[in-house]
Amino acid sequence: MNPDTTLPAARRSDADWWRDAVFYQVYIRSFADGTGDGVGDLAGIRDRLPYLADLGVDALWITPFYPSPMADHGYDVADPRDVEPVFGDLAEFDALLADAHALGIRVTVDLVPNHSSHDREWFRAALDAAPGSPERERYLFRDGRGPDGSEPPNNWPSVFGGPAWTRVPDGQWYLHIFAPEQPDLNFANPEVLADLEETMRFWLDRGVDGFRIDVAHGMAKPEGLPDMVPMDDTGLLDDHGPGDRRFDQDGVHAVHRRIRAVVDEYEGRMAVGEVWVSDDERLAQYLREDELQLAFNFRLVTAHWTATDLRDAVVHSLATVSGTPAPACWVLSNHDVVRHVTRYGGGEVGLRRARAAALLQLALPGAAYLYNGDELGLPNVDLPDEVLQDPVWERSGRTVRGRDGCRVPMPWSGEKPSFGFSATSDTWLPMPEEWADLTVEAQAADATSMQSLYRAALALRASSRAFAGEGLQWLPAPDGCLAFRRPGGLVCLVNLSPAAVPLPEGQVLLASADVSGGEVPVDAAVWLRG
Ligand code: NOJ
Repeated sequence: MNPDTTLPAARRSDADWWRDAVFYQVYIRSFADGTGDGVGDLAGIRDRLPYLADLGVDALWITPFYPSPMADHGYDVADPRDVEPVFGDLAEFDALLADAHALGIRVTVDLVPNHSSHDREWFRAALDAAPGSPERERYLFRDGRGPDGSEPPNNWPSVFGGPAWTRVPDGQWYLHIFAPEQPDLNFANPEVLADLEETMRFWLDRGVDGFRIDVAHGMAKPEGLPDMVPMDDTGLLDDHGPGDRRFDQDGVHAVHRRIRAVVDEYEGRMAVGEVWVSDDERLAQYLREDELQLAFNFRLVTAHWTATDLRDAVVHSLATVSGTPAPACWVLSNHDVVRHVTRYGGGEVGLRRARAAALLQLALPGAAYLYNGDELGLPNVDLPDEVLQDPVWERSGRTVRGRDGCRVPMPWSGEKPSFGFSATSDTWLPMPEEWADLTVEAQAADATSMQSLYRAALALRASSRAFAGEGLQWLPAPDGCLAFRRPGGLVCLVNLSPAAVPLPEGQVLLASADVSGGEVPVDAAVWLRG
C-alpha cells in the first residue's frame, strides 16, 4: 500500500490525490450561466469557483461541454476536441482550468467513447459512403434480417426505448445503444481507439486532471452481435446481468488498458468509470492495476433507506475493491437518477435522511462524488410535460418522464427564479418558486442548513486524522442502526430505526441533527472521535 493512504486528502502526494478526494459533479447546463442565455456554461463555472473552493471540494467533474446538437444534452458529441459555443470556447476552458488550479481545485472532464453524435463528421461521411467502406467501419453498420433486410440485425433495445438500430436509405442499419442521434463507435477498429487516445491527449496536454468515462462498460460488442435475452424495459440505470450482450463484454478491458496507458503517460492524472455492473467480481475487473483507478459504485444510489440495504451497499462496495488497488467510490446522486432527498421520501423526512446520508457518504473510506445541489438538499422537481427535454420522454412514447427533474438549475441567490443562476428568468428548465429558501445565499447565512453541514463535513474530512486509513470496522449498534470506525478513529453512527438511540461514547465532531440531549434522533447521523 502507498504509505500516503494514511493521510487525509489535503496532505496526499500529487500522484494519488484522487484516492479519497471529494469530487463535485458540475452538470454544466444547470450550474451557473455566465452569458445570460438561460443555459449554464464555462464562464458560469469560472465565476463560481470561489464558492466551490470555500465549500471544500477537491476536484470537479464537468459534464460534456463539447460541440453537440444536444440530442442527449452533450452526451452526443460532434467534436470531442472543441467546446460547444453555448458553453464557451477553448480559451474560456483554459482560463477556467487555470483559475481552478490556482484555487487548489482539480478539474476532470467527461470522455464519451462509446458513441458519437450523428452530427460528427465521421458519421456524416459514413452515411455518404457505401456499405463495407472504411467510413462505415468506424461505426456498427449491418444488413438487416428478413428476406428484404427490413428487420433490425438483432433484438437489442435502445436504453432510451425502441430498437437499438436505425435503418439508413441504402437499407443498412446502424447500432445505437442510446438515441438514434448517438451511433455506437466500432472499437474493433484501431482508428477508433487511436482517435480516443488523441482526444485524451488533447485534454491532458491542456492540463486536465482526469476523466469520467461515460458508459465505461460499453465500447466492446460481442463477436457477430448475437441476440440478447429479450428485454423491453432496459433503462439507463440497471444492470441486466450476463444476458444483456450490449454491456460488460470481456473485450472492454483491452480498451481500458489503452485508456490507462495514456493516463499513465501524465503525472497524477486519473480516470473514473461509469460502470453499471452490480456483480462485485465483474465490477472489480475494471479496477485491475492497468485499468481504471476508480469506478463509481452505484449501490448507495439503488439502496433503500434501511439499515440492511445501506449496510449491504457498503459491504459490497468494499468487497468489490478489496482485491484491487482501487479505493471505493461513493455516489448518492447524479444527473441520471432521482435526487436522494426525493428518493428518501421528500419533504422534511427526505431532507433529514439526506443530511444523515451525507455524513454516511463522507465518512466512508475512499473517494466521494457530490452532485451539484446535493449540498443544498435540492429535491427532484415535478416538471410539466411541455418542458421535458430528456430523449427518454419522446422515445418511450411519453410514458417515461426521464431525468429532467434532477437537472433543474441551481438556485444561487435572491427571491425569485432564476435565483441568480442566470440574467434571464427563462432558464432551460423552469425553476420552482419555492426554492427561495434553498439558495446558496440563504443557506450560507444559516448555520443549520444543508450547505453548512456539507461545509463543516468537508472541512473535517480534509483536516482531521480521524479520517485516515482506507479500512472500516463495523461496531455493535442498536437495531436498525449502522456504526463503524475508521482506522484513524472516526466513528460514524446512522440511526435508521424508528426511535432515538443513545449517543455513543466519544467526542462529537459533527451531527446531522441535534444530539445535545445525549440521543441520536431518528434518521440522523453523528461523527465522533471514538
Ligand atoms: C451516461 C450518462 O450519464 C447519461 O446522461 C447519458 O445519457 C448516457 N451515458 C449516454 O451517453
